[in-house]
Amino acid sequence: MRIRVGSLEALQTEGRLVTKAGGHGVCVFWHDDRAYALDDRCPHMGFPLHRGTVEAGLVTCHWHHARFDLTSGGTLDPFADDARAFPVEVKGDDVYLVVTPPDNRVDHLRRRLAEALEGGLTLVTAKAVVGLLEAGVPSAEVVRVGAGDPVGSGRNPPESGGRRGGPFRHRADWRPGPRATSPRSAALPNPR
Ligand code: FES
Repeated sequence: MRIRVGSLEALQTEGRLVTKAGGHGVCVFWHDDRAYALDDRCPHMGFPLHRGTVEAGLVTCHWHHARFDLTSGGTLDPFADDARAFPVEVKGDDVYLVVTPPDNRVDHLRRRLAEALEGGLTLVTAKAVVGLLEAGVPSAEVVRVGAGDPVGSGRNPPESGGRRGGPFRHRADWRPGPRATSPRSAALPNPR
């Protein structure tokens, strides 16, 4: 499905245009002579990304400063999630958003839960658990993912130590690593 966002001239002049796709706000950015589109709702806590700053191929959310790659929506800051990216087409003076079915959300949430538990990201953990339960994943399976089996592979089952055992933590030479904490990050409010 294609949705006309506006004119190319308006996009180039404004730098960004917001449209709706399936009830979601989507922001189309103009940057370095190219159009990019991301879900307008910051995946961290929902601040509108169209109010962010665009620089060097990234948009930075103004609330907690998570950065997102304009091309893929991938975040550089693990406390946030990836933003959904959309293809954009420019035909003559018209800009169109191309809306396709989203990727497999359950697989994405499984991965996010595993990453969040590894990284101690409590907000991401909570969002992933809620998302999996809302998607109909049985709670026992969510627990299994949390125990270190993110793709239901049967590897690293809870009885082998599960997540606290982790994929490498059974090794005799494994030790927990230091956490990086700078004076600046220690002074900032925790966005997790
Ligand atoms: S709401 Fe965007 S970084 Fe927190």
